[in-house]
Amino acid sequence: MTAVQRRGPRFTVQGGAVLRGSVRISGAKNAALAFMCAALLTDEPVTLENVPAIRDATSLGELLTSLGATVDRPAPNTLRIDAGEVNVYEAPSELITENRASFQVMGPLLACHGYASSVPPGGDVIGQRPIDVHLGGFEAMGAVVTREGEHFVARAPEGGLRGARIFMDYPSVSGTQNVMMAAALAKGESIIVNAATEPEVQELARLLNAMGAKVSGIGQQIMHIEGVERLHGTTFRVMSDRIEAGTYAIAAAMTGGDVTLEEAPVDVMDATWAKLEATGATIERLGESCVRVSRSGPLRAISFQALPYPGLATDLHAPMAALLTQAQGVSIIHERVFDNRMLYVGELRKMGAEIVSTGSSAILSGPAPLHGSRVRALDVRAGASVMLAALVAQGTTTVEEITHLDRGYERLEEKLRGLGAEVERS
Ligand code: UD1
Repeated sequence: MTAVQRRGPRFTVQGGAVLRGSVRISGAKNAALAFMCAALLTDEPVTLENVPAIRDATSLGELLTSLGATVDRPAPNTLRIDAGEVNVYEAPSELITENRASFQVMGPLLACHGYASSVPPGGDVIGQRPIDVHLGGFEAMGAVVTREGEHFVARAPEGGLRGARIFMDYPSVSGTQNVMMAAALAKGESIIVNAATEPEVQELARLLNAMGAKVSGIGQQIMHIEGVERLHGTTFRVMSDRIEAGTYAIAAAMTGGDVTLEEAPVDVMDATWAKLEATGATIERLGESCVRVSRSGPLRAISFQALPYPGLATDLHAPMAALLTQAQGVSIIHERVFDNRMLYVGELRKMGAEIVSTGSSAILSGPAPLHGSRVRALDVRAGASVMLAALVAQGTTTVEEITHLDRGYERLEEKLRGLGAEVERS
């Protein structure tokens, strides 16, 4: 019996390694999860390549299976989803609350079957994550949405969803994706005003078009979707993960290393490159999907805001904060997307970071010597933040609750070890 209760598997990180070598970036979590939901829009098989082997994809696969879909894995990182036999339109609560993306089964189920029911989505505890944008879009297309117990129930009107002009109060990523999928099969044209423009939203539009949809204005805040009668199967490759790429780029800069990122979505990461260069890192583009990140001089303090795309991604806020604990001077971070992205602050402080948070801002003073500690991965990106801090901390850090990291990072410890880090899972 140990005195302190253990919280599942954990990582043990020995600090001090300088990361060198190359790492292959996996498929994008937020694209892959939306794509898996899009497979519900057709009764023909959809084959998705480059799907990351992460827990969020596994749990969403289980959810699709529970609806009656067949989910096969014909090759590593490839999923073949056949929704031809889907006959359950209510998403099981325990799987919906596993991750945020699961709520995106609502749009496809509603469009295809006229009915969808789900409890509110789960995912990280990073602030209020309302779904008004999703539901407002369905209602604009004629659906009636009611609350029945814990469930949100959406019913399409007689004759199916109708195309509509939809204004989104906020350019929600999953809201845009959910509504876009529903609109793909609605009667007539839909226009989404204030749509999210994140690369993963753009890629979903391209997947839908490959399935026979008519989406235009891809990457713009005003999108047009001409509804079609039916969609067909296709094979489509998931883009690379810009957040995973950003995390390894930060690790390289933070440890004063020299790392080449292969299969990285270099062209959709301008904000990351600009901010890393401002801290003193060197970014060398070696090709369309290959970039080298290194640092030899000191790290400089910077200020940044986490914003919708093309601003710096909120998912890189916490990893960047870990880097800035080592920068000379005072850094200021403003979080402009979520209202509770500061869970990492207390954990970094345990390691010796000089950081305070005031609402949605954080102020860091550096460089602060970090020491190995026992910390928790409180959400997927807060977890990445403490892993990064552990790489430069003196001594051994134990990171607990790493199931959060497994939700979003494929083979994290293997990839870090491949670059020279000392990381063990136990
Ligand atoms: C997605 C990503 C997540 C990323 C986030 C922002 C997935 C599975 N997750 O999350 O990694 O951090 O985008 O880039 O793709 N909002 C509303 N009403 C709504 C929905 C959202 O006001 O109906 C607000 C939220 O409170 C939040 C902001 O919009 O302040 C951003 O949320 P959203 O873009 O919806 O994020 P997710 O799609 O949940």
